[in-house]
Amino acid sequence: MPRKGLSNFDDYDDGFDDDDDAFDCDYDVDIDEHEEEAAAEPKEEIAKTQGLWRCAICTYDNVETMFVCDICGVLRHPVAGNQSINKNTAPFKFDAPSPDDLVSYGLTSSKTGPKGSGDASMRQKEKQDSVEQKPLKKGGDSSEISSRGRHDKLDNKGGAGGIKSGKSLPKAKADMSNETSSSSKYVETSESLTGTMNKMSLTGEAENSSDIKIRGPRSQSKHTPEEWMLLDKESDALSQLNLAIVGHVDSGKSTLSGRLLHLLGRISQKQMHKYEKEAKLQGKGSFAYAWALDESAEERERGITMTVAVAYFNSKRHHVVLLDSPGHKDFVPNMIAGATQADAAILVIDASVGAFEAGFDNLKGQTREHARVLRGFGVEQVIVAVNKMDIVGYSKERFDLIKQHVGSFLQSCRFKDSSLTWIPLSAMENQNLVAAPSDNRLSSWYQGPCLLDAVDSVKSPDRDVSKPLLMPICDAVRSTSQGQVSACGKLEAGAVRPGSKVMVMPSGDQGTIRSLERDSQACTIARAGDNVALALQGIDANQVMAGDVLCHPDFPVSVATHLELMVLVLEGATPILLGSQLEFHVHHAKEAATVVKLVAMLDPKTGQPTKKSPRCLTAKQSAMLEVSLQNPVCVETFSESRALGRVFLRSSGRTVAMGKVTRIIQDS
Ligand code: GTP
Ligand code: MG
Repeated sequence: MPRKGLSNFDDYDDGFDDDDDAFDCDYDVDIDEHEEEAAAEPKEEIAKTQGLWRCAICTYDNVETMFVCDICGVLRHPVAGNQSINKNTAPFKFDAPSPDDLVSYGLTSSKTGPKGSGDASMRQKEKQDSVEQKPLKKGGDSSEISSRGRHDKLDNKGGAGGIKSGKSLPKAKADMSNETSSSSKYVETSESLTGTMNKMSLTGEAENSSDIKIRGPRSQSKHTPEEWMLLDKESDALSQLNLAIVGHVDSGKSTLSGRLLHLLGRISQKQMHKYEKEAKLQGKGSFAYAWALDESAEERERGITMTVAVAYFNSKRHHVVLLDSPGHKDFVPNMIAGATQADAAILVIDASVGAFEAGFDNLKGQTREHARVLRGFGVEQVIVAVNKMDIVGYSKERFDLIKQHVGSFLQSCRFKDSSLTWIPLSAMENQNLVAAPSDNRLSSWYQGPCLLDAVDSVKSPDRDVSKPLLMPICDAVRSTSQGQVSACGKLEAGAVRPGSKVMVMPSGDQGTIRSLERDSQACTIARAGDNVALALQGIDANQVMAGDVLCHPDFPVSVATHLELMVLVLEGATPILLGSQLEFHVHHAKEAATVVKLVAMLDPKTGQPTKKSPRCLTAKQSAMLEVSLQNPVCVETFSESRALGRVFLRSSGRTVAMGKVTRIIQDS
């Protein structure tokens, strides 16, 4: 299984100049931190002389007449008066799964229990446990899953982080009885606008000043790529393209994906008949194409995608890795896991009346959130597939209205007009997918490219092939019979071939690549951008887990527990305070984090500090802060590696902030 495309972040950032106000780009409401601060200071003075009540969240002393905290907006009731923060601030605990996790993984309380220990032996134990557990049958019953915890649930799905590796990893699919795919960590993330974050700096030297890496400084200056590593354009005319299919629930993502795969010969007629028959038998005939992607019994029964399905097809210009994401809000973390790998995306919109409006709703719809997530990962090129046009009679007016609304929102997220392609289509009626529409109601007013042509015109990003190997591991597939392990993921930098020496971090175990597979086929070389399964030799299977990073032995990735971050607090997030306990997410790793320092609030427009040591951070504010992680994770500063330096903070099943690592701090 693979992961996100980062090389296109270069382009993404290029789109911004110093005047860009990236931090308010995601919000429809303008904010002005200066005004807020100017207003806050004098009120504190008033509070000293009049009756006051202390906000239980941010401890700000508000005047008696205020019903909500002037700083963080928390309602006074029921905490008027001076009360302890702890009474109302429920600390995040990893052993208490977030609602998302409960839904995604069917866990009870076993999810990440061992992490609480914070020591290496527990990590070891966790790994052993994951290996010892037997794989579940596909569609195994949920009570079994609950009692086993998340590893087995992921086995059931065939991938980590809610990504099914079955379609990309034939072994995992073909021989489930012998192999265990286990993952201890998964990825989550969210919103856009980190593009300009790298322009922001507290001091102008923050990123490099005193970076001390706990483990192995990753100097790339000495690395000289061998000739075979570099892309031989002659030998393979097709470039790799990781394409995420995102959009609101039921917009038709899986149907579109299934239909496309069928039209391109990736699903045989016989197989399609089987899906149709089975879907009809279950009274879900309209989901036949979706069943090609929604493989588990639960997904089929519920008629929704729960984990990211991976499939492959070739267009004229690309080897496409299709990542069909779930649209349901409960599975946003899984969608994010897919989006981490995306070089480009198809944003599917349901054109039907009421459905578009629901999906585009600011609070309940997932269209905006998915678009922000994509932007957050630096995805720049988006094909907006306005689906179910058959339901609206292929109306040009409806298409134009949707284009107008979604277009202005995407613009506010800093998607460039020139990077957006708008395609009206019907997955169900096969209109405008791989050929020009045959229905006169559409062809009479639409003469643009069909979906496949639009995919072909997506530019594949430049890859860091000449840099030392970096592959965040999103899944580890173990062969219990032979004690072997394959690391699955997307190469973010470098290249490998059988015999290449590799190191797994943070364990530091070294070994070699025995063989590699891409799109279920054995291959001889994998380069940055490729989604591969690397069979490892000489490495203890227990030392390879999702969230680890495979790297070049001479260029080990940094491992850290104390980081300085530059973050943007997202809309609707609860305030972040000193001592707040959050989930820290970076590539495919997740760790419990405590906010140990609120360094400064930043001007979202200039990135300059506007207030040192703020008491709390509220929605839409950007800031520098320090976090302490319970266990070490593989991480780099954003300037060193975008893939390993882009982070997300979550709490109670919600993404509360996103940002980048600006400094790795060594504690004395
Ligand atoms: P999630 O993955 O759960 O978010 O859903 P999805 O976006 O993958 O939607 P899915 O493909 O499962 O389709 C949902 C429903 O929409 C199914 O009943 C499909 O038959 C229907 N559908 C999909 N595309 C079209 C279309 O072009 N026209 C019509 N009329 N129905 C469609
Ligand atoms: Mg689906």
